[in-house]
Amino acid sequence: MHIYIHIPFCQSKCPYCAFGSSSDEFNLTKSYFDALEFEIKNAKFSQISTVFIGGGTPSAVNAKFYTKIFDILKPYLKKRAEITTEANPNSANLTWLKAMRTLGVNRVSFGAQSFDDKKLKLLGRIHSANTTKIAIKNAKKAGFKNINVDIMYSTKFDTKKLLKFEVDNLANLGISHISAYSLILENNTPFSGKSNYEKDSPALAKFLFKELEKAGFKQYEIANFGRPCKHNLAYWSGEKYMGFGAYAVGFNGKKRAYSPKSIEEYIKNPLLKSYENLTMNDIKTEKIFLGLRSKIGFSAKLLNENELKNAKILTSHKKLIYKNSKFYNPNFLLTDEITLFILEN
Ligand SMILES: C[S@@+](CC[C@H](N)C(=O)[O-])C[C@H]1O[C@@H](n2cnc3c(N)ncnc32)[C@H](O)[C@@H]1O
Ligand code: SF4
Repeated sequence: MHIYIHIPFCQSKCPYCAFGSSSDEFNLTKSYFDALEFEIKNAKFSQISTVFIGGGTPSAVNAKFYTKIFDILKPYLKKRAEITTEANPNSANLTWLKAMRTLGVNRVSFGAQSFDDKKLKLLGRIHSANTTKIAIKNAKKAGFKNINVDIMYSTKFDTKKLLKFEVDNLANLGISHISAYSLILENNTPFSGKSNYEKDSPALAKFLFKELEKAGFKQYEIANFGRPCKHNLAYWSGEKYMGFGAYAVGFNGKKRAYSPKSIEEYIKNPLLKSYENLTMNDIKTEKIFLGLRSKIGFSAKLLNENELKNAKILTSHKKLIYKNSKFYNPNFLLTDEITLFILEN
């Protein structure tokens, strides 16, 4: 089974970010972790294959807060479980990284966003490119061998030259994985509607993907390159997962479970969930969409007669690849269009 744990604290709130986190409720850290411990203690686990501690900013809180959580999870962790934590370059210092490694965390994911300080400033980040380089060195010192770095593109500053600069920096870090996210102008964030901050260019995205591949990071999902993250592969394959903490989401194969979207509400009632029932059709569409966004592909068995006909038209135009009863997408950037075409009746 797969586990997600949400840490809803950030040292400062980035103006583009709509993830559930707060920068002025650190006074609730202790109560939050008590609630988390209570929720996790109440859960029934089988063998755990992956754990993902995400945020927010897991490195914004002292590593000692994670001890009790790992005490509860340890008996259920598979021998080779992938245990990831997200971290921000400015707060993940050597002490924190060593402590997390000692607890059993074996993968760290840094939100670098860029190696250009001007772009970092545009994104409202509070670290510099140099801070990221130091954090990655420290992660290696702490014993991490599986290191991811997140970057963002499609900002107004992005050009081929800048993206090449990003890739050159990434290639020199000795890391195993890169996530490259296209900037989304999320509603209810300071970036909402600021279309001049964004440069949505499929040609630049293609260029970035090619450069990342040239640097040895093989693309296996629209935003992911390198040694695949088992936790994310599980999401994209439609596997079940449990979500713990405020803002967390879980999935049992039929329903999605949502935790309260407020730190205070969650602390008051850590077991409270609201549910979204997914129809068979929702699950099918998701399987097709997520399969097409990644190397996972999807089974031809999912399709009805008409959809199969549509998929075969795409195959004859080389927009889809058919192999061993599965369809695969050779161009992840066309996922939306391909999904719509297949499901068109
Ligand atoms: C939830 S954040 C957590 C990581 C960590 N707090 C950090 O920012 O360094 C995970 C990643 O989502 C990406 N992200 C967040 N908001 C985004 C947006 N509006 N558009 C594109 N990517 C976004 C960023 O690259 C970020 O590193
Ligand atoms: S991008 Fe990361 S650091 Fe910035 S607000 Fe979102 S979760 Fe926090």
